[in-house]
Amino acid sequence: MISFKQFATVASAIIVAASTVVYAAEKSPAESAQEYRQAGFEMIRYHFGPMAGMVKGEIPFDAATFKTNAEAVATLSKFPMHGFIAGSYEGDTEAKPEIEKNMDDFKSKMETFQVAAADLAKAAGEAKDVEGIKPAFGKTAESCKACHKEYREEK
Ligand code: HEC
Repeated sequence: MISFKQFATVASAIIVAASTVVYAAEKSPAESAQEYRQAGFEMIRYHFGPMAGMVKGEIPFDAATFKTNAEAVATLSKFPMHGFIAGSYEGDTEAKPEIEKNMDDFKSKMETFQVAAADLAKAAGEAKDVEGIKPAFGKTAESCKACHKEYREEK
């Protein structure tokens, strides 16, 4: 006879194992990649928004906050590319299938964004006022638009 305690331990181990299997089976590599890149862009937007607000004069300029956000975007810019894997352009995604066909161009647009974001972080560290940051911010915003225009289906 096994005790109730032993039974409970075994039962909970089975439940954990079963839910792990279910969790693993729930998401295909394509779905995981889509969620990964979308989450990355959400994080980028979270930091990009306040900078846009300051540049437009909607939020008072604060050099330290701007710098923190610019550095975050520069770091985060390195991640979304990992999520653009083969066969991940259908389903719950706004990424156009053209990405797969024009991967070199897509990668080069991502690199333009990464370079612009790094320059923006540098400018934010040196500038005394928002005017000094505007050109670098403009270039970064342009790099988002240039890619979305070609490769993102805005639903
Ligand atoms: C090289 C291409 C590229 C660049 C550069 C780029 N994006 Fe995107 N972005 C995409 C694609 C493609 C999607 C759609 C991803 C999907 O739905 O799987 C996307 C989606 C998004 C989303 C929606 C995420 C979600 O919740 O589904 C936001 C927000 C976003 N981008 C913001 C930005 C911002 C801000 C920048 C610049 C600072 C930027 N992106 C630069 C290609 C790019």
